[in-house]
Amino acid sequence: MLKKICVLGGTGFVGRHLLNRLAHPKLRIIVPSRRPERHRSVMVLPNVQTVKADIHDQETLNQLVEGCDAVINLVGILNESCDSKFEQNHVSLVEKLVKACQTKGVSRVLHISALHADKKEIQSTYLKTKAQAEQRLMQTTDLNVTIFRPSVIFGIDDSFFNRFALLLDLIPCCFPLACPNAKFAPVWVNDIAEVMAQSLENRETFGQSYNLCGSQTYTLKALVEFTAQMMGLKRTVIGLNDKLSQLQARFMEFVPTKPFSMDNYLSLQTDSVCNRDDFAFFNIQPASLEVIMPSYFEPKHQRSKYVDFRFTARR
Ligand SMILES: NC(=O)c1ccc[n+]([C@@H]2O[C@H](COP(=O)([O-])OP(=O)(O)OC[C@H]3O[C@@H](n4cnc5c(N)ncnc54)[C@H](OP(=O)(O)O)[C@@H]3O)[C@@H](O)[C@H]2O)c1
Repeated sequence: MLKKICVLGGTGFVGRHLLNRLAHPKLRIIVPSRRPERHRSVMVLPNVQTVKADIHDQETLNQLVEGCDAVINLVGILNESCDSKFEQNHVSLVEKLVKACQTKGVSRVLHISALHADKKEIQSTYLKTKAQAEQRLMQTTDLNVTIFRPSVIFGIDDSFFNRFALLLDLIPCCFPLACPNAKFAPVWVNDIAEVMAQSLENRETFGQSYNLCGSQTYTLKALVEFTAQMMGLKRTVIGLNDKLSQLQARFMEFVPTKPFSMDNYLSLQTDSVCNRDDFAFFNIQPASLEVIMPSYFEPKHQRSKYVDFRFTARR
């Protein structure tokens, strides 16, 4: 039975749901964060200890994993900023994690990657660096590693649907969408948390990689139209051709929150769908998007006029 684990990136979207799933009085969970004070929902969990720490510092990482039975790595970024790079967060961090585990005698590591990161023709740096991290972990023979490769993940506090909800609310009438035909098989965050929790102590998952997809495949355009429909908004989604999609990506790179980037455009050139059903190994039937998501969204006409709704998903 595991007594202590460390979850890197535990304050993020997947992390919050995983920590809830792992709530057990006998399991102590260390969650380092750059700004723990911003994550009150994690801080209040009784078996979780949040720690302000720079996980990119080797000595700090060594101390964090000391005495742990397992480490879960959920750190990942979709876009670079001046002080946060793909190489640093996906590759160097994993190198340091491997060293820390070896130094402190931790042999069990769970890691989240992305679908098709290992494909040769990939041009996206997000995916390429995810692939390098996978290789580094799987090459390390003294670690028992399990890798999870999900398609886009949905849930009440996800960034995918909430981001589109915000944009749909802001942009009236016609919504110009890059890469409208890119395909996804959205997967519920609780299903991901369940698979990870079940894997922690299951020896059959050692050295394995699991491709995790939801029950159905959709185009990006269908997903954005579904979001507008859940919100009760009348929007015409206009799919941009390849040239205009690239142009939008180049332009959006200069928007402060970078809602879309050239690297996002490149990663959308590969469909985020599975060629096998790895949920079957865990006896899990992945939840349907149409069943889960509408309960999180309030149609516009039902919203209170006294509340300033920026995000439409209920929190
Ligand atoms: N969400 C999806 O649809 C999806 C799909 C496929 C794969 N994934 C992968 O799943 C993992 C979890 O995704 P998520 O959606 O939960 O991500 P998220 O909500 O953005 O959380 C990312 C976590 O990483 C930490 N982090 C970010 N930048 C960091 C930096 N420069 N230094 C140190 N820590 C940093 C953050 O911790 P603090 O801010 O507290 O320090 C945060 O807890 C990622 O590896 C992602 O690539 C996600």
